[in-house]
Amino acid sequence: MSQTQWTVLGAGSLGCLWGGYLNRAGFSVTLLHRSGVSAPESLYLTPFQATEEVAFEAKLKSAEQCAPGSIKQLIIATKAQDALTAVAGVEHALADDAIILVLQNGMGAQQAVAEKYDRYAIVAACITDGAFRSEPGHVIHAGKGISRVGALNAKGKAVESAVVEQLKQMDLVIEHCPDINQALWNKLAINIGINGLTALDQCLNGELNDPERLAHVEILCQETEQVMQSLKLQIPEHGLFGLVKDVINGTAKNRSSMLQDIQKGKSTEIEYINGYLLKQAKALGIPAPENQKIYDAVLKRFHSANAL
Ligand code: PAF
Repeated sequence: MSQTQWTVLGAGSLGCLWGGYLNRAGFSVTLLHRSGVSAPESLYLTPFQATEEVAFEAKLKSAEQCAPGSIKQLIIATKAQDALTAVAGVEHALADDAIILVLQNGMGAQQAVAEKYDRYAIVAACITDGAFRSEPGHVIHAGKGISRVGALNAKGKAVESAVVEQLKQMDLVIEHCPDINQALWNKLAINIGINGLTALDQCLNGELNDPERLAHVEILCQETEQVMQSLKLQIPEHGLFGLVKDVINGTAKNRSSMLQDIQKGKSTEIEYINGYLLKQAKALGIPAPENQKIYDAVLKRFHSANAL
């Protein structure tokens, strides 16, 4: 029987964006919010380039309120640093044949979920859409991107095509990606080039075109490229710097997710972006001083000593 229900864990901008588009495509959506945090009073989505917001429906619950075995299709739409704890919080409610779709930024969080919950089908989506919340429960789809979807484990491989078929019913661009690792690395390279610098300089993505800032972007890309080459990953035809410059220009007016996080006083995903690159570089014996500089500066300025 084809599935018609999705449970979305995380009522932030991405959770509301996917929850909203899924509901508008006819799926029944349950949106899980953190217990102790009040649920949004109403749910609205402003679709890409629309002038008005539209209401969408979702059952609002906390993870504790989910009955055992009731979740068959789960989307983890939390920040990278919260993903593992979030899955642990709903573990009691997962059906034996549950599918878990992870949407995190960066690298490391998705792989940690896949490793710990290998008994379930794990599928990842690598998303380049831009979205932000204007107020709790109200999400604006600000930048049209692509979501590449592919399996992270063997059970995921068996269901990835069926998951993609469901997701394609949303008014988002969804692409089946058999090599999701490559897609996640390309996105990681983009986040490495943009997020830390925009957070530290408190600037819009487009302001990275300033020659002095762009020189730092280029070095970050060179270091990432060395690691990717050493891991036998493909480098885009016009190089990582070319790829990152395209994204800077395509999202010129956006505030990066890391800048948004620090402006809201939240912890950042630095551990899963430059931090992940540094771990890989160290294991391969490749120096990555520019990534180290950005990583150290973000930790020093925006994280308390024991935040990570
Ligand atoms: O994290 C982000 O902000 C986004 O992934 C991107 C592509 C850098 C655009 O702001």
